Amino acid sequence: MTLLNKAKFQGRDFICLHDFSKEEIANMIEVAHQLKLETKKGIPHPLLKGKTLAMIFTKSSTRTRVAFEVGIYQLGGYGLFLSDRDIQIGRGETIEDTARVLSRMVDGIMIRTFSHQQVTDLAKHATVPVINGLSDLLHPTQVLADLLTIKEHKGKLEGLKLTYIGDGNNMANSLMLGGAKMGLHVVIASPDGYKPDEQIVAIAQKDAKVNGGLVEIMTDPAAAAKNADVLYTDVWASMGQEDEAELRKKAFEGYQINEGILKLAKPEAIVLHCLPAHRGEEITHEVIEGPQSVVFDEAENRLHAHKAIMALVM
Ligand code: CP
Ligand code: NVA
Repeated sequence: MTLLNKAKFQGRDFICLHDFSKEEIANMIEVAHQLKLETKKGIPHPLLKGKTLAMIFTKSSTRTRVAFEVGIYQLGGYGLFLSDRDIQIGRGETIEDTARVLSRMVDGIMIRTFSHQQVTDLAKHATVPVINGLSDLLHPTQVLADLLTIKEHKGKLEGLKLTYIGDGNNMANSLMLGGAKMGLHVVIASPDGYKPDEQIVAIAQKDAKVNGGLVEIMTDPAAAAKNADVLYTDVWASMGQEDEAELRKKAFEGYQINEGILKLAKPEAIVLHCLPAHRGEEITHEVIEGPQSVVFDEAENRLHAHKAIMALVM
């Protein structure tokens, strides 16, 4: 593992891509890529031998949970799945006490939860690195895997146009932050009332300026899709918004990646979706199962990206 520049990363939290420089994100992507190649060749890499990762989940997960659990195992360590249904957080123990207790026993903590404040509070009181496995505001581990996927399929990141169509949610926010740092042209097309977080847009636009990228917010999905290299979408109702699902179905009518939208993008454009997908809503069956979709490469890359994050910060 020649690319492991641990001195720069060890002990750091992985909460938001804005906290890392362009070079550092590029380094993480390279490490993930190298770990992927080595894993496929059967080369073991016990970089975290004897280390443990606590994984707190207050929301459901397939990819994030499996990628962290398998990832830490492949790195020679051990992962503990801690659902809020079982641990004392669910009965009111504070995040501060949880952070202090876990820090005495484990080498890293991953958390997937609702409030972003809970993630930052955990990090504030923990003395081991904290990894954000999704909050209502951000989903940075997903975007690291997405950047790896785009790099693998397009050979580069800088200058590519990534168009996200749909809800201005945690995915849109993290794609703006990660894309801006890596010099992409990120376009978000969302209906009024569902645009991404204004503060995040401002940070991403500033980062884009410094790193040769561009971040634009639009309403018209067709205009946004024009000449895109990458089309991206996510569910219209995120975890915790189940009660709004019907209302959102109406609000997001027309914000679907379908054959018509795909035709507006470049002929060699790729289609990404963080999954889980709702076929017939934000994306059609034809597109997600079609030749331009790389959603399962993207899902696999969660494993390699998570391993890179853990190998670097823990
Ligand atoms: N994309 C993603 O984070 O999937 P899970 O919710 O299954 O972890
Ligand atoms: N926006 C979605 C992403 C799931 C991976 C959610 O928060 O539910």
